[in-house]
Parts: sequence; structure tokens; C-alpha cells
Amino acid sequence: MKPFTILMLGDVVGQNALAYLEKNLWRVRGELGASFAVVNGENVAVGNGIDPASAERLFRAGADVITTGNHVFRRKEVKSYLDDEPRLLRPANYPPACYGSGAYVADADGLRVLTVNLLGTVYMDPLASPFEVADKILAENKGTYDLAVVDFHAEATAEKIALGHYLSDRVVAFAGTHTHVATADLTVLPAGCGYITDLGMCGPEGTVLGVKKELIIEHFTTKMPVRHEIGDGKTVCHGALFTVDRATRRCIAARSVVF
Ligand SMILES: [Fe+2]
Repeated sequence: MKPFTILMLGDVVGQNALAYLEKNLWRVRGELGASFAVVNGENVAVGNGIDPASAERLFRAGADVITTGNHVFRRKEVKSYLDDEPRLLRPANYPPACYGSGAYVADADGLRVLTVNLLGTVYMDPLASPFEVADKILAENKGTYDLAVVDFHAEATAEKIALGHYLSDRVVAFAGTHTHVATADLTVLPAGCGYITDLGMCGPEGTVLGVKKELIIEHFTTKMPVRHEIGDGKTVCHGALFTVDRATRRCIAARSVVF
């Protein structure tokens, strides 16, 4: 039987990257045989965050679920959209009273996939523990999903690696996002969970995390605030493909994806 494959892509930075995904993501999914695709879209809108129109375009481009992070609420029009569109996630460890949800179960290629989006708490806002919130979501949804996937949007590598190991016997794919720099530690953890500390980004080459390098250099050399502008270099998308054995429902292979 054909294995189940999960494509996860790092933070989409800007509208050029969105247009690039519109042109290429379905083709890449076809070439990789990806059963399911999770894309982090928290930097896709003009001026950061995500707006409903960009989210709709990203879904049509081939994202089954869109994850986000610390910039999720930046665009005010996304707030009610988060309540109406369950496939767009905000980190689950925000207070329950805020908009949207941090978990969603999708039907994909014969399996029910729970995607969980969490935010780090080291060098970031002091939200609820991602460890405790993950425990709660996985337990509460028990019986409603066959596979669980996590996008952990976090800064500190230790927090990401620790949560990956902590969840590795309950999750089949665990990917970090947020730093926009892909790490070289893609692996399958012993419990059968594909793991990477950071997927990287889908954004312009020759920039500092997607922003025009001259502006960031100006900031670091003068310490003056600068208005961020997305670079206009060629878009490159970084992510990972996780292969899951349908019988054991564990990850058996992981490879990086660049296009
Ligand atoms: Fe972020």
C-alpha cells in the first residue's frame, strides 16, 4: 500500500512567495506524492500576519492546513475569519478566549490527521505551557484522529528539541518554524516521529529572514528603527516531507524539500 506522506513548509514571507506557491505547490505535491500539506502562513500578508484573502489563496494553492505563530492576530480582519475557517490555525496555547483554534482534524487520503499549532514560550510571550497544552489536545481528541502533526513556532532550539522528544511517541511529524532558517537536523526519532528544529521559510533569497538586507544592516549598524520591506529576490521554499507507514502509523523516513 502507498505510504502516507506529509509535506510541511516553513513560514511563507510575502505576496511574491504566495504567488510562487500558487504556481508551484500542486505540481510539487504531485511530484512528491504528498498526501497532506501543512504550510505556515503567518508572514504572508503585506506588512506581516495573515489576511483572509491570502489564506484563501494559500488553501487553493495546495495547503490543507495553514499554521501561524506570534504574528497571527496582526491583521484585524483575520480575527473573525479564524472563527469561521477551522483549517487556519492559531497557536493552541493562546488563551481560550481569543479567536480561532489551535487544532484541526482533516480527512486526507484515507486517514484523519490532527494538526496542532503551538507557540514557544522561551524569548517569546509567556503563554500557557506548550507541553501541557499539547498533552491536553492529544488526549481530548483521542479517537478522532489517526495521525498527529505538530508545527511548533518557537525561537529557542532547546525548547523545540525537548517538545519534539516529549511528543515523539504520540505524533508522527514535528516541525519547528519561526526562525526562517532551515536546520540540518531532520531525522526520524526512535519512537517513529519525523523531526526538524526549523523548516526554514518560503521567501526571497538574498534577504535577512525575508526582509531587504540593507534595512536590517542599517538597523544593526545604527540601532535606529527601520520599516521592514520584503525583499524582491527569487523565491525559494524550504520544508520537509515525512513518510508514514499506514500499518504502524509511525514515520519511517524524512527528507528535506527545496523548490
Ligand atoms: Fe514567527
